[in-house]
Amino acid sequence: MSYKNILVDTRGAVGLIQLNRPKALNALCAELIEELNAALDAYEADPEIGAIVLTGSEKAFAAGADIKEMLPKSFQDVYMEDFISRWERVTRCKKPVIAAVSGYALGGGCELAMMCDFILAAENAKFGQPEINLGTIPGSGGTQRLTRFVGKSKAMEMCLTGRMMDAEEAERAGLVSRILPVAELLDEALKVAQAIAAKSLPSVMMAKEAVNAAYETTLTQGVRFERRLFHSSFALEDRREGMTAFSEKREPQFKNR
Ligand code: HXC
Repeated sequence: MSYKNILVDTRGAVGLIQLNRPKALNALCAELIEELNAALDAYEADPEIGAIVLTGSEKAFAAGADIKEMLPKSFQDVYMEDFISRWERVTRCKKPVIAAVSGYALGGGCELAMMCDFILAAENAKFGQPEINLGTIPGSGGTQRLTRFVGKSKAMEMCLTGRMMDAEEAERAGLVSRILPVAELLDEALKVAQAIAAKSLPSVMMAKEAVNAAYETTLTQGVRFERRLFHSSFALEDRREGMTAFSEKREPQFKNR
């Protein structure tokens, strides 16, 4: 399938999705979001794919929702179409999605990156929620996810002032898992994704589900949920193979990957 606003490329067991509206710094228009959703659907349905990398250009992961597209909308328009609800497809992806962020990740771009499972940042990455400068506020989870990532003080400052965070601050604050040189970002993201894709997919999915539960439940409920999933992993053929391979001092040959 060919898209207008994204590029897709399968690298081994990894699905690579690259936002590609260079003239608008990958501003997230409705058509781009529909294409992103279609690409995620396709990779999710593809049994050969074990992980997905979402990236942008060197200058911009995404500079936010498309301001020119939003400008004419009325309250009735956004309310009736439940504007932005289509953006959350990535949060329902069962396979791991890594955001590889270079350059600007602003507004909806920062929110999209935070919807992924983890963020690898290039040295030039800049994260921000500048909606306040447009007379509005984040609408795709920015006030909620950023606060969970970096705490109230930093999230509040960023949402109230629109100040951007550079990669080092973002790593210190726990927003990104690692910083890489710009030229190495994509290769490293693909390498990490490939390493995840080589593991047993059902156990990867269980681990992802359990970590995500930490954001939705109390500690007691989360630990109980984790234990049930841990018990469930004992039903996997791959779990037996993983433990057998360890005792036989060899690499595991997972079937479900
Ligand atoms: C539409 C955008 C855009 C955006 C950039 N462009 N961001 N178009 N929507 N969010 C366009 C510019 O209009 C310009 O097009 C081209 O991309 C290059 O941008 P410049 O501003 O010329 O580049 P530069 O001087 O390098 O500045 C980069 C920038 C700036 C700092 C990222 O573009 C900027 O501040 N962009 C807006 C960031 C923002 O406010 N994002 C939040 C959006 S609201 P032309 O045609 O003029 O060359 C949002 C709400 C989310 O995301 C709600 C829920 C999803």
